[in-house]
Amino acid sequence: MKKERTLAEPFRIKMVEPLRMTSESYRDGVLREAGYNPFLLKSDDVYIDLLTDSGTGAMSDRQWAGVMVGDESYAGARSWQHLESVVKELTGMPYILPTHQGRAAERILYGLIGGKNKVFLSNTHFDTTRANIEFTGAQAIDLPAAEAADTQSDFPFKGNMDLLKMEREIINRGSENIAAVIMTITNNSAGGQPVSMENMRAVRALCSAHKLMLVVDGCRMAENSYFIRHREPAYANKSYEAIAREVNAMADVFIMSAKKDGLVNIGGVLAMKSEQLYRQCTNLLIISEGFTTYGGLAGRDMEAMAIGLREVFDPDYLHYRIRSTMYLGEQLRAKGVPVLWPVGGHAVYVDAKKLYSNIPVEQFPGQVLVCDLYLKGGIRCVEVGSVMFGKYDKNNCLIPAQHELVRLAVPRRVYTQSHIDYVVDVFDDILELTDKTNGYRIVEEPPFLRHFTARFEKI
Ligand code: F0G
Repeated sequence: MKKERTLAEPFRIKMVEPLRMTSESYRDGVLREAGYNPFLLKSDDVYIDLLTDSGTGAMSDRQWAGVMVGDESYAGARSWQHLESVVKELTGMPYILPTHQGRAAERILYGLIGGKNKVFLSNTHFDTTRANIEFTGAQAIDLPAAEAADTQSDFPFKGNMDLLKMEREIINRGSENIAAVIMTITNNSAGGQPVSMENMRAVRALCSAHKLMLVVDGCRMAENSYFIRHREPAYANKSYEAIAREVNAMADVFIMSAKKDGLVNIGGVLAMKSEQLYRQCTNLLIISEGFTTYGGLAGRDMEAMAIGLREVFDPDYLHYRIRSTMYLGEQLRAKGVPVLWPVGGHAVYVDAKKLYSNIPVEQFPGQVLVCDLYLKGGIRCVEVGSVMFGKYDKNNCLIPAQHELVRLAVPRRVYTQSHIDYVVDVFDDILELTDKTNGYRIVEEPPFLRHFTARFEKI
């Protein structure tokens, strides 16, 4: 069989950022100093940074040109008008507000519609979404599709909402108690898995039947459009942008961290159909973010975002983006690394419990992989398991998370194919180590979001 042709990057490099090469013994020292928590490493000590795809992408020459012509007027800036017109077109919504990032938009929206006794339903709430909802006293309920439970099946839309459970929750809790239904697209906490148009339509129909507000968290909407076009036959000839518009048009509110598919390093958007809600959001925005025509951003940030929101739908870019993430997952799987399947849009998730069958969950197999990837290859990534989500019972015994995963998130337009091949090669060392490496215990942890600052000790 003829070998598939290499998918080379659809861009060339005009400016470079040197990376510092370090030795394993150097990394051993700084990792120990960081308490075996890569969040506490200096970025200069990291070679390939796969911690997140958020705000870590590279802007294009056109976006940088936009930075130079950004209008820094406090009110009515040209750059705001540019951004507003692009978001209006993408969402079909009349009321648009800028924010400095996604969670700022979440805090405003959920602060208004949340509150004690309110319930939110979602295909899966992302951490900051859940935190902003729970902060108001409301409850956030995840209803991921049943097909997502099998991490190895080929089901193409594991980001979907479980429709039967959704209807049951609405009926049991009473629609008057449900503040909103949130569709996270793609479904980040469920492995960056896509949501189908069919599922979106069914969710919209249920919301309409029960008069519920539908929020779309579209921070990876272009990546989701790619999956719809290539996996839902009726959309095979639609443009990615038209697919995103069709999804967004179903929402009452659209919320986005532009640090992902906005292709910028900072920025967010809050858009809606209701004038009344817009007026309420405006008041909060002015208190915490800034005036309605900049919302915590510089004019140049808005200019770059307006350009990024168009570039992200370029078919060559999107094909490269999804294929290159998939490539990493396919190569790892071929080596025998247990990978969440199918590969999502922005990241590859490795099942660390399967990889280290000798390390009990109480010794955090995900943290073992995170540390070994840094030690062996200078690669930084994040544990998504019992360090992040584990709780303790009355006897101080760990109640583990559902899965012990490690996320390798791929920044947009930053690393070349040889960087990715390097990551794949480092896994050879990891596979050799699996039965020789030890687990960790936590020696210091804060009361909330411990994964950011906890310190560990090797057992
Ligand atoms: N919604 C989703 C689905 C996200 O993935 C994120 C951020 C946010 C909202 C919040 O946006 O960071 O701009 O305030 N996700 C990042 C990540 C942090 O690493 O997955 P933000």
